[in-house]
Amino acid sequence: MPIIFDEKQMMWNLIAKDTSYIIHVNALGYLAHVYWGKKITEPSVRNLLNHGARPGNYGSEEKSDQYYLLDSLPQEYPSYGDSDFRSPAFESYYRDGSSLTTLKYKSFEIIKGKKPLHGLPATYVEDSSEAQTLFITVSDEKTGLTVVLSYTAYEEYDVITRNARIDNNSGEPIRIQRALSMSVDMDETGFDVITLHGTYCRERSIERVPMQHGEFSISSALGSSGHYSNPFLALSTKNADEETGRVYAFSFVYSGNFLMSASVSQRNMTRVSAGINPLDFSWLLEAGESFQTPETVMVFSDQGLGKMSRTFHRLYRKRLCRGKYRDAERPVLTNTWEAVYFGIDTEKLLSIAETAQKVGIELFVLDDGWFGSRDDDMRSLGDWYVDRKKLPQGLKPLTDAVQEKGMQFGLWFEPEMVNPDSDLYREHPDWCIHVQDRKKTLIRNQLMLDFSRDEVCGNITSQITEILKSVPVRYVKWDYNRYMTQTGSAALPPERQRETAHRYMLNVYRMMDTLTARFPDILFEGCAAGGGRFDPGILYYMPQIWASDNTNAASRIRIQYGTSLVYPAVTMGAHLSYHPWCEKNSLMSLDMRCKVAMSGNFGCELDLSLLDEEDKELVKKQIAYYKSIRHLVQFGDLYRLVSPFESNHASWMFVSEDKMEAVVFYFVLIGEYSMPGIRVKLQGLDGRTTYRVENGEVYTGEELMYSGLQIDYGSSPFLGFCFQLHAAEE
Ligand code: DGJ
Repeated sequence: MPIIFDEKQMMWNLIAKDTSYIIHVNALGYLAHVYWGKKITEPSVRNLLNHGARPGNYGSEEKSDQYYLLDSLPQEYPSYGDSDFRSPAFESYYRDGSSLTTLKYKSFEIIKGKKPLHGLPATYVEDSSEAQTLFITVSDEKTGLTVVLSYTAYEEYDVITRNARIDNNSGEPIRIQRALSMSVDMDETGFDVITLHGTYCRERSIERVPMQHGEFSISSALGSSGHYSNPFLALSTKNADEETGRVYAFSFVYSGNFLMSASVSQRNMTRVSAGINPLDFSWLLEAGESFQTPETVMVFSDQGLGKMSRTFHRLYRKRLCRGKYRDAERPVLTNTWEAVYFGIDTEKLLSIAETAQKVGIELFVLDDGWFGSRDDDMRSLGDWYVDRKKLPQGLKPLTDAVQEKGMQFGLWFEPEMVNPDSDLYREHPDWCIHVQDRKKTLIRNQLMLDFSRDEVCGNITSQITEILKSVPVRYVKWDYNRYMTQTGSAALPPERQRETAHRYMLNVYRMMDTLTARFPDILFEGCAAGGGRFDPGILYYMPQIWASDNTNAASRIRIQYGTSLVYPAVTMGAHLSYHPWCEKNSLMSLDMRCKVAMSGNFGCELDLSLLDEEDKELVKKQIAYYKSIRHLVQFGDLYRLVSPFESNHASWMFVSEDKMEAVVFYFVLIGEYSMPGIRVKLQGLDGRTTYRVENGEVYTGEELMYSGLQIDYGSSPFLGFCFQLHAAEE
């Protein structure tokens, strides 16, 4: 029974596996946040919500609304204009010019399972017994505006999800200025805040700073979640590490402009909120209409960051990703981008395909350059028909040849973009995102198509559908290579211009939904100039995402480690490359570089036909090895052992759900000489089980976890290792 309503105390206890989240309606009708943390089965409001005793808390007694200061109340969905001086979750303007909203409790409903979010990606249930959802309705008496707060408690997955829906029951249009998805006030301070910062080629670096009074926020106004900040934020206790300490984590299921903030108030409460970025946003809500906010996934861990990540991983693998490939082992691919760039010719591609087949590749992906007159990145985005100069007989001879070699064929698109030098742009110059009579900034020589317009989405959807119907494509890489600037739409009236970015996102999701449903046998992989849109929103439509254009293994160790804070390895595209990031004689050997790429969805991003025989043999062996461990990497539990953000070393391991097998990776970012030997303490094994290590030695799980495994190295440069463990037969 995950949601318990206690009528006497007007309190709901949302119980997930190890977690409680408790909400209460106080005597004045305000919705208070009582507690979030380790499971409490019989809570008492008075004990948990002790805000009345706070010093200097004048006027906060729950007797008279006139003297009551909301600033002292830990709240669930604070609105602007009343007596809470912290950052609100909600702000709107009414016809009389006021922007004051006071939300009070109206009613509640508990249902089994979870409803889909209209038009937005969200976690889901397969069976209604997996979760319960609580809807609490609060409203502003003066205007009649209503907010329905929705909370889902996933019992087994140990997760709470939240969103808010704004219903305009006021009888008049209102302008929403800010409608975040959630807000929570914790009666505690002294946290560290952890985020994933990045930029192009350096995505998702872990940053951790202590919270102080005042506000800390991360956001995107790029039109996408972007490279700079991933839509993830966690608060941790000071002592929290991979195995210990409390962590409160928030992951925002949206791919557009977002805001996530954490603040400590003068009354020593910590507020966290997440939602669509209010910057350059507003929404004109006509009477009787609703506005649905995206979902935030909230994870509490009392065993540090490791448990937090595994909780996200399980949920995202099983109840965010969808479709045929969700539970299927992902194919080893080779991608033509770093092999030939725009220099596509059938003969060259066939020679790569031939080697690919020999080394064990399962999927051949034709990247950018096959359409329009795409000889460079100056032209042809928007013209999705085959370039007959490069491929005179179209794609068919190539797809046939690839299939004959026993591989699947994949194709690259960048559906949301247009080059000014394209037939599409010449025909429809106002189909791009722009503001009338202003310059249009070009990034990578391209503009963004105005997907807030249905006819634009419809055109691109039809063009892509034609291609996908014409040849047997089994994989699509959906790229996105610029940010949104001069945000505006030629099709929206002035009072709705600030809706452009969100309308754009809603239609991108709709198009992703259409194409993934129309082609259920195609494996879709998201991409955005590397990992610039690596977020849970995309994962709902595409179960894997290219993690970064930086394929230098040493950089990749950090990128993949940071990404793993929230996202499981099975969602990360990770490729072996030579050029331009890795020289053949780089300190990280070919063997170790393969091992780095093996910690995600392994692929190659190089001209395989140019490898010498020795390297071809090595790559072949590595691919065979990967196939023997990919079930562990893709569906096992991740344990991070050594952080590359703290030293020159990095280590992680994947353990099967039944704990009968595991694979351990250990890397040195810059090779070290005369290493004294390394002791690595494993995690996640069964203490009482005896495991056989790849070299034949046998140890108990207890010994491997508590005493560790000693690895001795000679005087050659130490670059790392990878080994498997299997439960030894009795
Ligand atoms: C950016 C992607 O991240 C690359 O992998 C490649 O697909 C290029 N775009 C192609 O233009």
